[in-house]
Amino acid sequence: MPDLLDSLPTLEALFTPSPESVASSIKKFQAEIKRGLNGENSSIAMHPSYVSRPTGREVGEFVALDMGGSNVRVTVVVLAGDGVISVKQHETLRLSRIDGEAADLFDPIAAFIGSVLEEGRNYDLGFIFAFPTDQAGVNRGRLTKWTKEFAFRGVEGNDVSELLEQSIVRQTGTIPELKSVSVTALANDTVGVLVTGAYSDARCDMGLIVATGTNMAVAVDRTLVSRPLPPTVGNPDEMLFNMECGNFDGVVSIQTPYDRILDAESDSQGQLLEKMISGRYLGEIVRLVVAGMISEGRGFSGWNGLNSVFRVPYGFTTEHLSDIAHDETPELAGVGMLLNRLGVGAVGIHERSVFKKTCQLVAGRSARMVAMSIAATTLYIDPLLESQHVVAVDGSLFRGYPGYQEGVQAGLQEMLGDSAAERALVSYIRDGSGIGAAIIAAVAGAGSS
Ligand code: GLC
Repeated sequence: MPDLLDSLPTLEALFTPSPESVASSIKKFQAEIKRGLNGENSSIAMHPSYVSRPTGREVGEFVALDMGGSNVRVTVVVLAGDGVISVKQHETLRLSRIDGEAADLFDPIAAFIGSVLEEGRNYDLGFIFAFPTDQAGVNRGRLTKWTKEFAFRGVEGNDVSELLEQSIVRQTGTIPELKSVSVTALANDTVGVLVTGAYSDARCDMGLIVATGTNMAVAVDRTLVSRPLPPTVGNPDEMLFNMECGNFDGVVSIQTPYDRILDAESDSQGQLLEKMISGRYLGEIVRLVVAGMISEGRGFSGWNGLNSVFRVPYGFTTEHLSDIAHDETPELAGVGMLLNRLGVGAVGIHERSVFKKTCQLVAGRSARMVAMSIAATTLYIDPLLESQHVVAVDGSLFRGYPGYQEGVQAGLQEMLGDSAAERALVSYIRDGSGIGAAIIAAVAGAGSS
C-alpha cells in the first residue's frame, strides 16, 4: 500500500508553481489588464468606478452599507478631514441564505439599515456591493454575474442601487427611519478599501480584498488608457478601476486536478484565480485532496465516515484550515481534537502532520497568488517601479490566517526582488471597504470642504 508520506512531495510540487510559471502568469495578467482597460474582451474586466481617489479633506457624516459575503455591515462614519476617520456605529447582519428572490436579499438589508439609523435625519448612503458590477455612474450599476456562489434571482443584469432603493421605499411605511436615506454612491469593496487607504496616505493606489472572494482595484491615470472613459467624480485626470481579477483565467496551466474538480462542481464555472485564493474555496480544495487520497488508497482512510464533514461538499471550511494552522505543538493535539469534532475519529500523528502540511500548502499557494496579482498590477502602472506604491488590504483571510501576510511578502520578494518589493507596501486596514463607501459618498459631492 502506498505510504501517505510518499504523497507529500507530489502535493508540494502540485501546489507550488515554479517561479517560471508564476512569471508567465504575471505577463498574462498584465496582458489581460491591458485588454480590459481597452474595453476588449478580457478575463480581467477593469470596470470604471466613476470616482477618483479622495483628497483626505472630505468631511461629514455618512452611512456605509457593505454587502459582499454572508455578513452585511452598516457603519455610521464621521470624516473629519486631514485623513481622520471615526466610526460612530457599526452593526452586522448575518444573511441566512445566499439564494432566493431579489427581495429576499434587499428587503432584510433595508430593514436592517432602518434599525441602525435615527428618525428625522437625512443620510447619504454609500453602498459597497462586492460583486462584478458594470457601473453607469457613481451611484448606479448593474450586476454582471453573481460570484462567491451567491445566486439570488432577478439581480443579474439589474441596477443594484435601484433594487436597494425599491426595498427601502417598500418599507418606509413601517420603518420611518428609512424615509431620509439616499443612495449617493455605489462601489466595489476593493475600490472602498483603496479610497480608505488613500484618505490618509496619498501613496495608496491599489486596493485588495482577500476574504470570501478576492479582487483588486487600481488608480489609473487617464493618459494610460487609449479609449475614451466616462467622467470621474473627484480628480478628472484619474479613474479607479474595479479589476475583477478573481476571474483571471491565465492560471489554467498551474491548476491542480483538485482545482479542476472544484471548478466543475461549482455552481458557476470560472473565477479561476479566486478559486485558488479566497476563503470560500480553500477548505474545499483541502477536502478534495483528502477525498482523492482516500479513493486512491493512499491514506486518510475512514475520514469520510457517516458523521464526517469530509463527506459533505464545503463541509471543511477555511476557518477550520486556520484553526489547523494555529496548532504549533509537536504532537498536533489541537488538530486531533478538531478532527474529532469534525466527525473523523482518532487519527495518528502521521496523518495529522500530513494533513496539516496539506492545509499549509493550499494556504501558502493562495498567498503566493495574491503576491502575483499585486506584482503584476504594480508593474503595469509603473513598469520600472519608479514610485512608491501602497496596497490597502482588507479581508478575514488576510487578517486571520497565521503567516498569510508574511507569505504575501515573501512572494513579492521572490517576484520583484528584495529591494523592489519595498516599492509595493502592503497595508492592512480593518473595515476599510465599508469606510470607503462613506468616503466615496463624500467625494460624490455630499461633503467636500
Ligand atoms: C468577488 C467579486 C468581487 C469582489 C471580491 C471580494 O471576486 O466578484 O466583486 O470584490 O469577490 O469581495
